[in-house]
Amino acid sequence: MTISSSPKIFADRIGRIEVSATMAVSAEAAKLRAQGVDLVDFGAGEPHFATPRHIKDAAIAAIDANFSHYTVVPGIPDVRKAIVERHATDFGSDYAINEAIFTTGGKQALFNTLQVLVDHGDEVILPVPYWVSFRDIIQYAGGKVVFLETKEAENFRITANAIEKAITPRTKAIILNSPSNPAGSIVSAEDLERIVHLAHKRGIFLLLDECYVYLNYAGKPVSAGSFTWAKEHMIILGSLSKTYAMTGWRAGFALGPQSVVANLSKLQSQSTSNATSFVQKAAIAALTSSQECVEEFRAEFITLRDAMLAKVRAIPGITCTKPEGAFYVYPNVSAYLGKGGIKTTAELATRLLHEAHVVTVPGEAFGTAEHIRLSYPVTKQNIDEGTRRMGEFLTGLA
Ligand SMILES: Cc1ncc(COP(=O)(O)O)c(C=O)c1O
Repeated sequence: MTISSSPKIFADRIGRIEVSATMAVSAEAAKLRAQGVDLVDFGAGEPHFATPRHIKDAAIAAIDANFSHYTVVPGIPDVRKAIVERHATDFGSDYAINEAIFTTGGKQALFNTLQVLVDHGDEVILPVPYWVSFRDIIQYAGGKVVFLETKEAENFRITANAIEKAITPRTKAIILNSPSNPAGSIVSAEDLERIVHLAHKRGIFLLLDECYVYLNYAGKPVSAGSFTWAKEHMIILGSLSKTYAMTGWRAGFALGPQSVVANLSKLQSQSTSNATSFVQKAAIAALTSSQECVEEFRAEFITLRDAMLAKVRAIPGITCTKPEGAFYVYPNVSAYLGKGGIKTTAELATRLLHEAHVVTVPGEAFGTAEHIRLSYPVTKQNIDEGTRRMGEFLTGLA
């Protein structure tokens, strides 16, 4: 009798992904904080502002009115209307209510879109450096990630020419995240239009992650949604998390062709069902009220970006591109790799955490080997103190 080997417990797909690096860093930092260590946290990818009062009030009123039951899966008509109208007003897009779905954070919109569109072996073009989750979610769906290298000397700019070269007959989708996490790079208006053209012409889906679309410091925020002639091949992935300081609420959306949105709704109906009922009411308040808070946050982020950039660039040996959006700086720390026994940025981030008590995220998580990501929605004092600690630690390495 042959003895069979022990049964496989876990499905292949769960082996294709890793724990989100940013979440792993937060967990490690939380352990130290629980031991009473005073950390400066440049790890968290979220605004430090409180959610604006009028948004909180809308949620409280909804709870008081017992708006606390299931809703229809893609969100109540008023929240879908608020999403399409906000986007149309700000960017000139033209979506119907049944082309919008409200989701549990932008991440769910992205996750479900990739599950719905990508089959085993399909290629998805992903510019480097990329937000950690893109790669893993593509792989979870069974897709093949086609990494598109960008140049640091060109501010990690993504061009239509580079995208065109990466396209093959197996290309199913292209991911664009502008402004980007982690480098804050922006796709120029001209490149954006050319990319939309070439995707549309070839029937390739353009997945536009607009998580930071309002945090554009180079000019007026733009969205490919304004190219209404290409709607058939565009899916806009939106988030209220960073725009309205609502990360914990889990509020996001997708705008896209009705057939795609219907499939997103089908998948959502078999997983999480509707996003939280009273969060939908809060989202309506956020999207339909005065947008003054968005402008205030943006102005403050620019001040903090400039402060962080100046301090980081002042550390000997460090170079750093100027981010044009989002709220991260992505300094090149290669001058310190090889010193003090530190070989990788993962090791550097660990040493910075335990020895300098500064939380950072290693660049390996974003697909580059010589950078760390610093998130700057913190106080000016924290920027000063955190960069002082980093400088002291780095220049002390033999
Ligand atoms: C590029 C990008 N897209 C999407 C998200 C998801 O945001 P949320 O799920 O909070 O809406 C994030 C969050 O960090 C992000 O950085």
